[in-house]
Amino acid sequence: MSGANRIVAIDGPAAAGKGTLARRIARALGLPYLDTGLLYRAVARRVLDRDAGPADPAHAEAEALALRSEDLERTDLRTPEVDRAAALVASVPAVRAALLSFQRRFGREGGAVLDGRDIGTIIFPDARAKLFVTASVDARARRRWLELRARGVDAALDAVRADMQARDAADASRAAAPLRAADDAVVLDTTALDADQAFAAALAVLAQAGLTAGPSAEA
Ligand code: DC
Repeated sequence: MSGANRIVAIDGPAAAGKGTLARRIARALGLPYLDTGLLYRAVARRVLDRDAGPADPAHAEAEALALRSEDLERTDLRTPEVDRAAALVASVPAVRAALLSFQRRFGREGGAVLDGRDIGTIIFPDARAKLFVTASVDARARRRWLELRARGVDAALDAVRADMQARDAADASRAAAPLRAADDAVVLDTTALDADQAFAAALAVLAQAGLTAGPSAEA
């Protein structure tokens, strides 16, 4: 990694508030942002488009190797079908290997904020600052349900919660890069925090790591 390590790793389970927080941190620090979940979603989308089973490692690897940046721009990457397929392709070691160098290249030059499940443990174990953002499953299911409703997707809260628990279990129990906080990550529980409070707490962690936000931080 280059001399000035300006990598911020943000990991945690689905709908814990990582994306909103990561985007805000990136803006405040003037760094590019990568939502690494989108990589797995785009691979899953490609597999589904070919009517191939997302649980088949060979199909999933082929689509990961064929991934193009345009695939990340698609507007159909956040459906419940893709949620499930992404958890399956993310458990395939060859898929994770195919996506690793893209993620490292993204951050290596000038620094970056990346969010995902294994940024602080595998992708950038020497990141300057590591946050593990989490919240209770009820709080996360409710947030995801509200998001879906705002997008006009009609889903039952119980079903959203059950899906989320299944994905949590898959992400945490898989052999390849399971979801866990890095030993040196700071855990930020957002169950009782709104977005502004979570951002303020994160800024304090970043300052501790010597990463100071510019004047836009409070905007
Ligand atoms: O954060 P998300 O819900 O968009 O992630 C989609 C899926 O990809 C989810 O099952 C977790 C997985 N994922 C992963 O295994 N590693 C990452 N760095 C990011 C996401």
